[in-house]
Amino acid sequence: MKLIVTGGAGFIGSNFIYYMQEHHDYDILCMDALTYAGNLETLKEAEKNPRYSFVKCDIADRDAVYRVFEDFRPDVVVNFAAESHVDRSIEDPGIFLQTNVIGTQVLLDACRKYGIKRFHQVSTDEVYGDLPLDRPDLFFTESTPIHTSSPYSASKASADLLVQAYHRTYDLPVTISRCSNNYGPYQFPEKLIPLMIANCLANKPLPVYGQGLNVRDWLYVEDHCKAIDMILQCGRDGEIYNIGGHNEMANIDIVKLIVGEIGKSEELITYVTDRKGHDLRYAIDPAKIKAELGWEPETKFADGIKKTIKWYLDNKTWWERIVSGEYCEYYEKMYENR
Ligand code: NAD
Ligand code: DAU
Repeated sequence: MKLIVTGGAGFIGSNFIYYMQEHHDYDILCMDALTYAGNLETLKEAEKNPRYSFVKCDIADRDAVYRVFEDFRPDVVVNFAAESHVDRSIEDPGIFLQTNVIGTQVLLDACRKYGIKRFHQVSTDEVYGDLPLDRPDLFFTESTPIHTSSPYSASKASADLLVQAYHRTYDLPVTISRCSNNYGPYQFPEKLIPLMIANCLANKPLPVYGQGLNVRDWLYVEDHCKAIDMILQCGRDGEIYNIGGHNEMANIDIVKLIVGEIGKSEELITYVTDRKGHDLRYAIDPAKIKAELGWEPETKFADGIKKTIKWYLDNKTWWERIVSGEYCEYYEKMYENR
């Protein structure tokens, strides 16, 4: 089996490569443009496997993508490559359309041209928009209408529609997964959990948007990887699968938990101006993937968050290099005077 993992130098893609190396004996090619979010250091253990290779390639660069497909001849392509941060999409939507929409279309064309067995699109629960805070009985199912809020979610929803169009029009074998918020090792410290851990360790203010009441449905990254693997093995062609573990938490509760685990003072918590168009609540109904594929999350949040904090403590050099580099400028721009 020959597998291309796009965006494999990022958070979930790298965890997925490690997961697949542990559970299968596949030829894996990581295709990544190495944007600010891609980090080859993350993959240094994966490189020790002789069946692993890497190519630096922008998924929106048609000629380059076709060359990679021509050389490698993949059976399966899993597309993680994306601009993934909502706040950045609010500042500069253009690159989100370029990578997330045009990049996906280029990959779909390459998959048609070179005849693959399966294209899997890694999508997000954000395509469903948000749910009200006072209706805990409501969840996103696969038939919830698409109703996006941010340029990021609009670009991911557009990509999903293209994937479905290529399935219907050209019979391309595809699957789509829509997962809730992930956390775990190798997450870029611009996202809530690693940002709060890094700031806490540095005794820096912990910027909570609005009143911190927005709710996210957190899943340990390895459980996401396992779900994608199960979809590749047994998922039905053309289907969408929601992935989530019924672990809803308000942002402020997550931040307080991190502060407590690290043993710092809650005085570090600083309420800042809210995100524009901030989605209130995400909550996945995972009944379909559970019933059809038998997937269930294995890591409880209480354990996963401890493991994650320990990982950031044990791997300070990995993220300290990031927060001291060009990310510094981004941080100042996003949080100064907020
Ligand atoms: P990330 O930002 O950590 O990593 C993205 C990776 O894609 C990086 O390695 C980057 O270099 C690469 N990339 C960006 N533009 C590229 C391009 N034009 N060509 C090739 N590579 C490019 O993202 P993540 O959090 O790992 O998310 C991975 C995927 O999962 C995304 O598609 C995202 O929408 C989706 N997703 C993320 C979450 C989450 O909680 N993080 C939840 C659900 C779905
Ligand atoms: O739901 C899946 C999505 O989860 C993925 O598709 C996205 O790629 C991923 O980035 C994530 O999006 P969110 O916007 O939910 O994640 P983020 O970590 O940016 O923010 C989580 C919550 O925390 C959100 O309500 C905003 C809030 N927040 C975030 C940051 C960075 C803060 O209060 N302060 C912060 O500094």
